[in-house]
Amino acid sequence: MPAFSATSPGKIILFGEHAVVYGEPAIATPVFSSQANAIVTAHIQGKPGEIWIEAPNISLSAPIDQLEINHPLRAAIQVVIGDKELNQVPPCNIQITSEIPPSSGLGSSAAISISLIRAFSAFLGTRLSDEEVSDFAYEIEKIHHGTPSGIDNTVISHQKPVYYRKGKPFEFLEIGEEFSVLIVYSGKPGNTKEAVEGVRERWQEDPDRYNQIFSRIGEITNAAKVIIETGNPDHLGPLMNENHELLQELGVSSPGLDELVLAALEAGALGAKLSGGGLGGHIIALAKSDAANISAELVKQGAISTLITPVTNRNITR
Ligand code: MEV
Repeated sequence: MPAFSATSPGKIILFGEHAVVYGEPAIATPVFSSQANAIVTAHIQGKPGEIWIEAPNISLSAPIDQLEINHPLRAAIQVVIGDKELNQVPPCNIQITSEIPPSSGLGSSAAISISLIRAFSAFLGTRLSDEEVSDFAYEIEKIHHGTPSGIDNTVISHQKPVYYRKGKPFEFLEIGEEFSVLIVYSGKPGNTKEAVEGVRERWQEDPDRYNQIFSRIGEITNAAKVIIETGNPDHLGPLMNENHELLQELGVSSPGLDELVLAALEAGALGAKLSGGGLGGHIIALAKSDAANISAELVKQGAISTLITPVTNRNITR
């Protein structure tokens, strides 16, 4: 029985999270060492329309129509069915697994939606373009996060480093000199929706101050783009540090994230910042050749796990 499988990477935001929701640019890159997967298999004995979904990570095993109408997994399937204007879907089983820690800034929700949209549309005989996949996944990101900028679905569907501005065509980044980023998990989940809503409330109370912060983050992101493209990645360190301070001012860091950022710098990182929505989740650090030592030091200081990811134009899948 043929199975239709799709795997999607996680992602990190190198620069510009939160400000990107307000029209400033941001830079993100895929993380292939932490991925989500969906497999769709025809269920020969099933009746038309019967779709069974299993997602062991969230202890889910149920027919799709027993999930709430706006459950993100049901909505992802529905968006594909709606696009094909199908009356009856062939019966199938769907299995979803993910290595990406949820609510951690690594794009777990977008990676799951994108894997599911790709595998399910392939099962129905359609090959969607990366752009179509991204647009569909954006609809599901709205269910998860309220008012997403669209950067997560963009970088994960295209699987390449991107320079992104909401509402504008995004650019693939030309990486002048490949470099590595250490990704460090605080062990405490974040909450992107809550973080984005909190920033919005504070912005509404004091728009001038927050607009200034967003615009400085935008300048940092643009400076980082030039550095990344011209191939001087070591110079990104101070920009990461300043970006982290501005995220602290936005109120989306946490004592745990601040401690990890400090510990990374003390262990020799050239720069460090939180990455993603914040309030928990991951920090990222720029290390030269000493990423393994910095990683060991951070684990001693309470980090739960670390990954190293290349920022590269090479085609990698794992
Ligand atoms: C989440 O990965 C990044 C945020 O900027 C939200 C968004 O862009 O949708 C916090």
